[in-house]
Amino acid sequence: MKILSIVGARPNFMKVAPIDKELRKRGVAHTLVHTGQHYDYRMSKLFFEDLGLPKPDIDLCVGSGTHAQQTAEIMMRLEPILNNDKPSLLLVVGDVNSTMASAITAVKLGIPVAHVEAGLRSFDRTMPEEINRILTDAISSFHFTTEESANNNLGKEGIPEESIFFVGNTMIDTLLRHVDKSYESNILELIGVRPREYGVLTLHRPSNADARENLQNILEALNEISKDLFLIFPVHPRTKRRISEFGLQHLINNGLNGLNGPNRLNGLNRGIITIDPLGYLDFLKLMKESRIVFTDSGGIQEETTVLGIPCLTLRYNTERPVTITSGTNSLVGSDRERIINEARKRLNGFSTQYSIPPLWDGHAAERIVDILIKQLCD
Ligand code: UD1
Repeated sequence: MKILSIVGARPNFMKVAPIDKELRKRGVAHTLVHTGQHYDYRMSKLFFEDLGLPKPDIDLCVGSGTHAQQTAEIMMRLEPILNNDKPSLLLVVGDVNSTMASAITAVKLGIPVAHVEAGLRSFDRTMPEEINRILTDAISSFHFTTEESANNNLGKEGIPEESIFFVGNTMIDTLLRHVDKSYESNILELIGVRPREYGVLTLHRPSNADARENLQNILEALNEISKDLFLIFPVHPRTKRRISEFGLQHLINNGLNGLNGPNRLNGLNRGIITIDPLGYLDFLKLMKESRIVFTDSGGIQEETTVLGIPCLTLRYNTERPVTITSGTNSLVGSDRERIINEARKRLNGFSTQYSIPPLWDGHAAERIVDILIKQLCD
């Protein structure tokens, strides 16, 4: 039995890390291929270091491009590797272009695909990730799911029940494994903030970052909130470019970079402070000690649910409804007034009951590997 796993973009690394560890522990041959969709040190290599992930066996170095270019490059560069390596199974995680492109390439060579984080649906086909999720699930042989809604979605799409395995969440395996270690991070001192005295903002979805009106509404709302509460904003490269192109820098504290040294923020106690993208441990620490998180990321909705930090999601839908029904998450879209009102409500003491969703217990990777060994070796 030989497994080949694909990683490509930032949120993939923490999903694959515990599976890689478990496969190695059980002596299963495992090849790790990085497509190179994300390539900046802070978007990729830093995560390997923080998570103790071994250097990828192969890097396809595809880099950025249009969706078609990126998808095609991954397929063309992966095909000869699969022909050569002949894995018994291709394992993909999440919903990025690397996930979908690799799954299609493998299936056409007769290699079965396992999709980790299968079945999530936003029911919004303008999201590139939704297309990636639907296509990947349609051709996968194993569907490992993180929440009950995913099982239902797959059932409705006619996916055979015997291929669906509700195993929990490998991203949460990684979080639980690293939460103690994140205490060692000195990111709060570097920025010059104290626990619970600030909020965190992340923003990168095309529907927010690439649409001027939405980006402006969101930044105006958060600028208003930041008059009462520091907001720390690690800026994704896509969003950084757009803020500058749309001329919205004035909404983010004159572009101050909060990592320029602890003294930089002396005397300053308000505003949106931008910093470069953070590694896994620094971001975990920043999130864990914050009062509130504003985000359009999928993974952060899940992580805040487990950490019990209030999360306002800057979207009108989520493919992760359990973060609302069980967790701390609310949807506020890109509506200026709604963002401000909901944030004030949460900051003025309104708190939601939350509980940890079923099977988000740190053992999802073990369950996945148990199932794969049983299914592939029987
Ligand atoms: C991708 C995923 C998204 C995921 C996100 C996490 C798809 C369709 N989207 O979006 O689901 O939530 O990653 O970050 O797969 N760039 C750099 N350095 C890098 C990588 C990207 O500067 O290391 C810049 C490039 O200008 C690039 C742009 O960011 O064109 C967007 O990168 P891309 O990988 O296309 O999409 P993301 O927005 O990162």
